[in-house]
Amino acid sequence: MGHFIIGRRDLLAGAAAAPLAAVGAANAQPPPGRDPSGGAADADQQRRMKWWHDAKFGMFIHFGLYAAHGRHEWAMEDEAIPVAEYQRFTEGFKPAPGSPRKWAQLAKAAGMKYMVLTSKHHEGFCNWDTKLTNYNAAKFGPRRDLIAEYVEAARAEGMRVGFYYSLMDWHHPDGARCATDEAARRRFVDYTHGLIRELLTNYGKIDILWYDVSWPLDAAGWESEKMNRMVFGLQPDIIVNNRNKLPGDFSTPEQTIKAEEGGRAWESCMTLNDSWGYQRADDNWKTPRTVIRNLITCARDGGNYLLNIGPQPDGGIPPESERILRAAGEWVHRHGETIYGADRCRVARNTYANFTRKGNTLYMHVHFWPGSDVAISGLRQKVLSAKLMNTGQSVAVAQDGFRTHLTGLPATAPDSPVTTIALECDGEPVQDTDYVRINKPRAGVGI
Ligand code: GLC
Repeated sequence: MGHFIIGRRDLLAGAAAAPLAAVGAANAQPPPGRDPSGGAADADQQRRMKWWHDAKFGMFIHFGLYAAHGRHEWAMEDEAIPVAEYQRFTEGFKPAPGSPRKWAQLAKAAGMKYMVLTSKHHEGFCNWDTKLTNYNAAKFGPRRDLIAEYVEAARAEGMRVGFYYSLMDWHHPDGARCATDEAARRRFVDYTHGLIRELLTNYGKIDILWYDVSWPLDAAGWESEKMNRMVFGLQPDIIVNNRNKLPGDFSTPEQTIKAEEGGRAWESCMTLNDSWGYQRADDNWKTPRTVIRNLITCARDGGNYLLNIGPQPDGGIPPESERILRAAGEWVHRHGETIYGADRCRVARNTYANFTRKGNTLYMHVHFWPGSDVAISGLRQKVLSAKLMNTGQSVAVAQDGFRTHLTGLPATAPDSPVTTIALECDGEPVQDTDYVRINKPRAGVGI
């Protein structure tokens, strides 16, 4: 059992190495003109964000010791598991070689374009061969560098590569006391910057850094500006999120879809059931149709959808996750032109359909097929033509200034789980239902 206990001496070895890393970090400089807060929507930010805006759909992967426990990645705190007991999950954390390749293949099959893997979650275990602590996957559990395997697998399947990194750490001795003890803060911030530096130095080009939970420090405490400066210095094309207490390049609504104001970039992250990390008994799965509807809503409002899998301790993908993502992916592949590179869409009101847009083309995605006609209220543009996406069959359109009425459709849904109709408009399609409410002729008194 002894070798599973990560002693204080081992950790201090990491702490001692950190200042060196920090010195290196200070030397890394971002390209001239870069705002280290990543907040300003400058030309450089637009350049770095372009692929991501087009991509729309990514895979989140939560994988760590909590997979071996199988009760959600918050179990260490939520069940108050003592550190020594928790460390023993390393014994059961045995991903089969090649697991990341299967994740990447599934991401591709789902129509996703990028992946974000937990490099270190709140539990503190590092999934790579770090020199700063021996609490890592090369020394315990798999005894391999999982990050190296993941990066290679993602690239082999044509996926952009992202790292999730939790600032909060329940394992490191300074993880909480850094808030009240300056010497501890110094050590822990050096350790943190050092770990991030390793991640962004040792694995080639990395596309996304996805910070998480900043407890217990603020931006000044974490030295977040310096952190981002180092990140951009090491990876000039990378994009970063907003969870190190700086705005970063994009916002991260969680388990909800909420567009940002003022054109700011955002990505909605979501679980497929109710858990990020593997939770054996969680069977509250979303349907493929819900996944597709969520992706459509994100694309409609100019956002991205980062959808999670929590692999089992052997690295296998929970069968339900695989089934749902393959089914959704089949649709996404057939309707890629309605999602990837979509523009913000100003048509949204309907109880049985949702919308995306590209240029002057409006895509009406009908999820509850109502019968042989469908209608859009308050579409202010003229529809030049309409067709069913899956068959190419053209659809009859009538417009009276208030209602855009599509008729002669099949009585049962022609496609599954969502049927899409493409409408060519004579300008950017815009919906105004207030106009309809105010101006649509009313009756006299009574009928
Ligand atoms: C939260 C949770 C965490 C999860 C993350 C994903 O911050 O603490 O477990 O990784 O959200 O967005």
